[in-house]
This record gives sequence, C-alpha cells and structure tokens, in this order.
Amino acid sequence: MRLAMKVLAREHLALRGIARVLKMEALIVERGGHADVEVLRAIVEYIDEFPDKIHHPKEEDFIFAAMRRRSVEPIPVLDRLLKEHHHEYELIRRFHDQVEAYAKDPAGEAANFAFMAKSYVAFLDNHMRMENHEAFPLAQKLLTEDDWEAIDKAFAENIDPLSGEAPPDRFSELQRRIMDLGLPPFGAGH
Ligand SMILES: [Fe+2]
Ligand SMILES: [Fe+2]
Repeated sequence: MRLAMKVLAREHLALRGIARVLKMEALIVERGGHADVEVLRAIVEYIDEFPDKIHHPKEEDFIFAAMRRRSVEPIPVLDRLLKEHHHEYELIRRFHDQVEAYAKDPAGEAANFAFMAKSYVAFLDNHMRMENHEAFPLAQKLLTEDDWEAIDKAFAENIDPLSGEAPPDRFSELQRRIMDLGLPPFGAGH
C-alpha cells in the first residue's frame, strides 16, 4: 500500500475509535448514566484540531485535487465528500454547544445529547465508508506514480495528533478510552 494510503487508513482508524467512544457515551446516557464530559471535550478538541485542519486538507488538496486533474469526467463522489467536510465543520460546532449544554444540565439535555452524538457517529461512519469504498479505490486507478510520490512526500510532513506515535498529553485519556474498546494502539501498523 502507498504511504499516503497507509496514513489515511491510520487516520480513519483513529476517527473510528473516536466514533466508538462517542457511541458508548450516548448509550450510557440513554441507559440513565452520566457521560464523561472531559472525554467529550477532548473529542471536540481533537475533531476541531484533526479532521478540520489535518485530515480534510490531505484529502481535498492532494488526493481529490489530483483525481480531478487526472479525470476527464466529473467525479460526483468527490463533490459529495467535499460538501460533507463543510457540513462537518458546522456539526462539530453544534456538537460542542451540545456538550456544554449537557455539562450544565445533564438530566435535561440527556436525550438531546444522545441523539446528537449518535447522529454524528452515523455521519462519520458513512463519510469514511464512502471514502474507503469509492473515492480511495478510484484514486488508486487514476493517479500516476509521480502523483503518489508528491502526495507521499507532502503527507510525511503532516502529522495527526492521535495516529502519530506520541499523542500530546491532553489526548492521552482519550487514547486510553479508544484502546479500552479493543482498537489497536495508535502508531501501530506503520
Ligand atoms: Fe473526508
Ligand atoms: Fe477521511
């Protein structure tokens, strides 16, 4: 597998871990328990820092851009994915507000929180499925060796804080929670 595709696969694995933790928190709340607000805040901070600033640009500016250059036909799946990236910026803002509302009023906001967390998880799962099953296989067909070399080089300089080998301390509890769910430790499979 190309280095760039390995990097994206690792980042998707990290995001899938986040999604699983979030789903667990939603289920806990639905069953009358309390969500871990600090872990939820770490998730918001991570998503704000990682998909928005590190993961999406990799996809948009390198993989998707190169695919468009190599294809004479329009590629509708890329338009859908781009729209979803923009939608995700809005979703994470709303999710942040929902986490803070839940922190202030856990009983009153429990149902809203659980609904929003589960909707966000479904959105993430669906988005990554579309990339893994449609966009990335198409990239492998369209891109040339030169394209991949340039992309590999650019990706090597752009590090995701959770899938890298040494996540910052503020994400260590989140990383521990992800590993508790049985997902591989970040940095594995280099
Ligand atoms: Fe994406
Ligand atoms: Fe992605």
